[in-house]
Amino acid sequence: MTGGSRLFPVSPWMPLEMSPFDGWGLLSAFLALLCCTGSGEEAFEVRMWPEQLMVESGESRVINCSTTCTQPNTGGLETTLHKTLLEEQDQWKLYEVFNISQDTDVICHFTCSGKQESKSLNISVFHPPKQVLLKLWPTLVAVGRSFTIQCRVPSVAPLEGLTVTLLHGSEIVYSQTFVGTTLSPQEATVTHNTMAHREDDRHNFSCRAEMDLRSRGGDLVHSVSDPQALDVYEPAQDNQVVAIITVVSVLLFLFVTSVLLCFVFGQQWHQRRTGTYGVQAAWRRLRWVYRA
Ligand SMILES: *[C@@H]1O[C@H](CO)[C@@H](O)[C@H](O)[C@H]1NC(C)=O
Ligand SMILES: *[C@@H]1O[C@H](CO)[C@@H](O)[C@H](O)[C@H]1NC(C)=O
Ligand SMILES: *[C@@H]1O[C@H](CO)[C@@H](O)[C@H](O)[C@H]1NC(C)=O
Ligand SMILES: *[C@@H]1O[C@H](CO)[C@@H](O)[C@H](O)[C@H]1NC(C)=O
Repeated sequence: MTGGSRLFPVSPWMPLEMSPFDGWGLLSAFLALLCCTGSGEEAFEVRMWPEQLMVESGESRVINCSTTCTQPNTGGLETTLHKTLLEEQDQWKLYEVFNISQDTDVICHFTCSGKQESKSLNISVFHPPKQVLLKLWPTLVAVGRSFTIQCRVPSVAPLEGLTVTLLHGSEIVYSQTFVGTTLSPQEATVTHNTMAHREDDRHNFSCRAEMDLRSRGGDLVHSVSDPQALDVYEPAQDNQVVAIITVVSVLLFLFVTSVLLCFVFGQQWHQRRTGTYGVQAAWRRLRWVYRA
């Protein structure tokens, strides 16, 4: 199946030579068919450079659309994107395509001796990690107690091949590489619980988001969060606080108790005194009655 059904040498020869069933004519026509189907004039290729394209949303790119045909009739780039022809020669055309905001196919085509060939290029759009947000909680933690490190990377795509690394100084605390095929921008979140160490407040924590687009014709893009400090304290301080609270409580208790005791004894002493008077009065009254 060759597309070259209208071979140049065949059409003018056939009516003249083939009618009398001349062996020569048939042979030459056959030879012409053989020679010219396989010849460089008919078989040609269309190429596009670059072969793979991954761009950041909104970017513009230069595309070289070329052919091996030495004298193409027509050629060009088919796309829904806004484009301009920058430069051209017989065998190539250099275009710039603008504002690539979503995944799209562009097609390069050339026509050579009535035959058309084309090549398509899939352009993928990526949303790089622009913001990397790190959060530690609690920010004040005792040695040996656990705390949480959370890193959020909003609006990234593709998620596949994105690595989020939690760092303490330059040391890796935790790392996660995402899998999946979602191409629409979404948030990537990594949460990690860990224990506070005495030396944790010597370095800041940070988060690095790295997108590897090298397998898709892109680059390695990365972004880092602002540093976050963790305040770590000795649990000994905890004990001191408990001790102080205990001492204060005991003193307060003793004070309240003594005040209460003073009050109670004071009352009793008062009663005893009034009670004595009562007894004496009764005694006097009794003596009065006895005399009478
Ligand atoms: C476009 O591609 C063709 C074929 O590979 C090459 O010969 C030509 O120099 C390229 N043009 C530009 C401007 O790079
Ligand atoms: C780029 O494309 C987006 C979406 O198609 C559109 O909203 C925006 O206005 C375009 N920007 C320019 C500079 O053409
Ligand atoms: C481009 O994408 C289309 C579907 O969108 C697919 O059929 C085609 O094979 C892709 N081409 C390349 C070169 O990846
Ligand atoms: C931690 O980061 C702050 C800035 O947020 C910086 O001032 C400080 O020096 C850093 N501390 C260490 C130990 O690197």
